[in-house]
Amino acid sequence: MQNFTYHNPTKIINGKNTQKEIGNILANDDIKSVLLVYGMNSIKKSGLYDEIISILKEKNIRVVEHAGVKSNPVLTHATKGADLAKSHKVDAVLSVGGGSVLDECKAIAAGAKVDFGIWDFYTAKAVAKEALPIYAILTISATGSEMNSGSVLTNEATSEKFAFGSLVTFPKVSIINPEFTYSLPTEYLIYSAVDIIAHTIEIYFTATTLPLIQKRFMENILKTVIETTEKALKAPKDYDARAEFSLAATWALNGLTKPGTGGSTFPNHMIEHSLSAIYDVAHGAGLAVVILAWMKYFKEERREIFTRFAKEIFQVETAEDGIKAFEAWLKKIGSPTTLEDLKIEKSDTLDIAKNAFISSTNWGMSKKYTTEVIKDILDLA
Ligand code: NZQ
Ligand code: ZN
Repeated sequence: MQNFTYHNPTKIINGKNTQKEIGNILANDDIKSVLLVYGMNSIKKSGLYDEIISILKEKNIRVVEHAGVKSNPVLTHATKGADLAKSHKVDAVLSVGGGSVLDECKAIAAGAKVDFGIWDFYTAKAVAKEALPIYAILTISATGSEMNSGSVLTNEATSEKFAFGSLVTFPKVSIINPEFTYSLPTEYLIYSAVDIIAHTIEIYFTATTLPLIQKRFMENILKTVIETTEKALKAPKDYDARAEFSLAATWALNGLTKPGTGGSTFPNHMIEHSLSAIYDVAHGAGLAVVILAWMKYFKEERREIFTRFAKEIFQVETAEDGIKAFEAWLKKIGSPTTLEDLKIEKSDTLDIAKNAFISSTNWGMSKKYTTEVIKDILDLA
């Protein structure tokens, strides 16, 4: 086991009706005005928007609205949000929505404190040293953004989807009411499941040091997601299934699976971000396709852990059978599994690989994941 330091400053509040606490939380922190950031329509349809507005009104908190964050959020919209936060001098940013809204809030919160363009954070030209405090009410559990510092944004002008994060971009408080996820479209439940699995297996399969406690912790997350996805597909209002799924999402990418491990990388995310950047596919949909191809490509290098995965997660004997069982499970829940399912031409793989190689370089993976290797992986998809 390797040495580690673990620090996570986010307070998580999870459970039924927990959104009602936002007024007291903001008032206790002496927040007098917020930039209220949300997506396209879901919070208006569910009534959550009206509920939050009335809570904020009751506490005399001034509200500046920034609506219309798209799934796979984009730089121009985030820049507008940062400009609004600056010109209205808000005290905090309040995210009400999914990972996309929250990721954009992180960009806005850091962007509101600087005079240069937000994209500099994503290209590592600048480090965020200050940010407005970020509060979140989460309506979809998938990305783990509620308890990590990461933000992923697409620059529409260059078709680049990059990430950044710093100590100041952790949400101060994230409220998760699993009941909100009852209204998720089925495909987003499926994509969320794949995303949580992806966050877990990136470390599980690639770490060169992997303590048993972490291996078992990650297997617990994988089994929980598989079981609760099936339950939620059958009965969308199964509270316990939704709540356990939500907790799995938070645990999978809040840094808890990392301590003591070593050598892990995020190749599936590195490649998927290019699919989202170029074709605007949903993150989890792109991941399902990339993961299966990457597993087929990579299994020889880590045969032992792939065999363990097969036995522990799907009760089959070999690495190959484990991959087949995972593919069958993805098909069973209705996930895409091939580039064709995403309506992406096989002839595009070189261009996708060139785009992904920029992230491969940024993430320090370019020796192993060259354009040629990424193309070879995608050709298996
Ligand atoms: O825009 P609205 O109308 O709100 O609709 C959203 C959106 O269409 C809808 N939705 C959300 N909550 C709902 C709901 N519909 C009905 N009922 C509800 N309760 O769901 C759609 C997807 O929302 P989105 O926020 O895009 O999903 P997700 O949370 O999966 O976020 C995806 C983004 O996060 C990034 C991805 O790359 C992608 O851009 N990631 C962020 C990470 C991080 N910050 O740590 C890590 C991840 O690996 C990932 O890269
Ligand atoms: Zn992800």
